[in-house]
Amino acid sequence: MVVLSNRGKISPFLAMDVMREARAKTRAGEQICHMEVGQPGTPAPRLVRERAKKAIDEDLIGYTEGLGMPALRERIALHYKESYATNIAPEQVVITTGSSAGFILAFLATLDAGDKVAITSPGYPCYREILRALDLEPVFLTIGFENQWCPLQSQIDNAVQNEGVKAILLASPSNPTGVVMEDEIIANLSHYCHANGVWCLIDEIYHGLIYDKSVKTAAGLNEATIVLNSFSKYYSMTGWRIGWMIVPKGLVRALEKLNQHLFISAPALSQTAALAAFDAREELEAIKAGYARNRDILVNGLLEAGIKRCAPADGAFYVYSDMSAFTENSLDFSKHLLETHGIAACPGIDFDGKDGKYMMRFSYAGPEAEIIQAVERLKARPLRAI
Ligand SMILES: Cc1ncc(COP(=O)(O)O)c(C=O)c1O
Repeated sequence: MVVLSNRGKISPFLAMDVMREARAKTRAGEQICHMEVGQPGTPAPRLVRERAKKAIDEDLIGYTEGLGMPALRERIALHYKESYATNIAPEQVVITTGSSAGFILAFLATLDAGDKVAITSPGYPCYREILRALDLEPVFLTIGFENQWCPLQSQIDNAVQNEGVKAILLASPSNPTGVVMEDEIIANLSHYCHANGVWCLIDEIYHGLIYDKSVKTAAGLNEATIVLNSFSKYYSMTGWRIGWMIVPKGLVRALEKLNQHLFISAPALSQTAALAAFDAREELEAIKAGYARNRDILVNGLLEAGIKRCAPADGAFYVYSDMSAFTENSLDFSKHLLETHGIAACPGIDFDGKDGKYMMRFSYAGPEAEIIQAVERLKARPLRAI
């Protein structure tokens, strides 16, 4: 008899499950407000699409170098100079098949089976499940209203000194909370990790989407720090599956070998098109201004609908909301909200197996009209406890 591996017995990505249900309703003709997945409602920038069309007509869409096209690696290094005044050598840039592949590569290059990695709870579900699928063990740093959604030094100390974690992975801005950590906190964490022989992985995928302040990058801080990023969110290119990492020079060859064998290279068409993404600033900033409007409409609408409180939502495009007045089962509540209001949102248990039962994540990356409609539906039909 054949049996499934334990690695395959990971939890589903509930946001994607909700999306499947919600899309089925849309196909059946229902007007659904799609707030379940963190995906821009806009296409890739015009310049990116034009570059892709040209590449299809003129370029060889073949494999690229394992570490990515030299021109794109150089352009990304220049982006760090232009946007953060940080010197990154092109050889430190590794192009990946979305940041999702970046996590796999980074974990494989830095950790061995059985090693522990500290991540926040709530946090992006795929961190937890990629770790489990790779026989690595997540150690949860519990965050919430009480610690301003940012792990305390005492929690980090405990993870490193008592749990023996080999790496810490944090996102800023965070999914699902939208919280942006202070530059100083991230720099201190990076130096602490370096001093303690622990890898520090910082996910900066939502960096372009911070509404009221500017931040520094953790890229290049020291030999223990790896930064992951992607064209998916700010650059509005989810389906192009293209991301990057900024890594210490000593890690490059290991990542190159792993990428060669696991993926050969990231998609050449997307790499070529992504070269144009950095020239699309005007279009991308207009999209971001739309998110900022959506955020205000949604946060106000949720509070008016009787939702007690939300995490700060300083960045990314999510509002993580306390639904404890209405439910102790966020999965049931997400189904209920879809049935009664035609609003698709993600249950908090996707992000946090404990307190997530009281929370829901609403994405405001979609069109403004859909956010307005969701808020109107909440007004017209007040939420009830289930
Ligand atoms: C925090 C975070 N990191 C990484 C990813 C993966 O993005 P991609 O593989 O499209 O780069 C996501 C996607 O939602 C995310 O929210």
